[in-house]
Amino acid sequence: MKIAILGAAGRMGRKIFELAEGTELEVVSRVDIADGFDREWAPSVEGVIDFSFHTAVAPAVEKAAAQGLPYVIGTTGLTPDEQVRVDAAAKLIPIVQSGNYSLGVNLLLELVRKAATVLGPEYDIEITEMHHRHKKDAPSGTALMLAKAAAAGRGRPNDFVFGRHGDIGERPAGEIAVHALRGGSVVGDHTVMFAGDLERVEITHKAQDRAAFAAGALKALAWAKGRPAGIYTMRNVLGFD
Ligand SMILES: NC(=O)c1ccc[n+]([C@@H]2O[C@H](COP(=O)([O-])OP(=O)(O)OC[C@H]3O[C@@H](n4cnc5c(N)ncnc54)[C@H](O)[C@@H]3O)[C@@H](O)[C@H]2O)c1
Repeated sequence: MKIAILGAAGRMGRKIFELAEGTELEVVSRVDIADGFDREWAPSVEGVIDFSFHTAVAPAVEKAAAQGLPYVIGTTGLTPDEQVRVDAAAKLIPIVQSGNYSLGVNLLLELVRKAATVLGPEYDIEITEMHHRHKKDAPSGTALMLAKAAAAGRGRPNDFVFGRHGDIGERPAGEIAVHALRGGSVVGDHTVMFAGDLERVEITHKAQDRAAFAAGALKALAWAKGRPAGIYTMRNVLGFD
């Protein structure tokens, strides 16, 4: 399968290129706004992996939809308007979209959902994430996915608190809070804490190498080829559903 990488000059784009070598996925276009990269993907491209910047995603997905190409979105931080355009394109092509393509985090999502159900409302849920200093959006797409998994386990709406500051008063029952740390070269750490009166449970994932995400994204594109149009997640790719 001949593929294009959007955001090919970036940390993830380079890793995907490295990992694709010698697999059934042949990278024929490395698209980026950086010097020395392709500006458009080649007519022979049969699928696209996108780890670029949120403003680039909707126009590229629409172009892929016009050409009938399967599309994998790794880029996070899309605005609601950009997401609406992605959802519309998914009526025409298969799109896999996930805030995290690693096997470990997708397992973590299952564990968090279960823990939130079993531990119940007496356990306060706090989520922390830490990433390298270059990361541009906050909180991470993964932290949002974890918050949604916790909310689903609790049977609560997706209504979260992002950080705290000032005269905040007592913690309301049922709150789910997300906190973003930035520094150094951290690839991606996430912890979901369930804090009760007598004990705390913490579920942690630490990504050590971007290859964990890159391998999942390549697998997702191979999986998406030939699927009916629609939005899929890594849960579908990994067969959790
Ligand atoms: N879903 C996941 O598993 C996962 C894992 C890691 C990173 N990410 C996300 O992937 C994205 C990229 O991460 P990164 O660390 O590689 O970032 P990066 O900044 O290293 O790379 C992004 C690249 O996109 C390019 N770019 C920007 N605008 C573009 C455009 N209009 N057209 C083409 N290329 C464009 C930039 O020049 C840059 O080379 C971020 O949104 C990040 O949060 C997702």
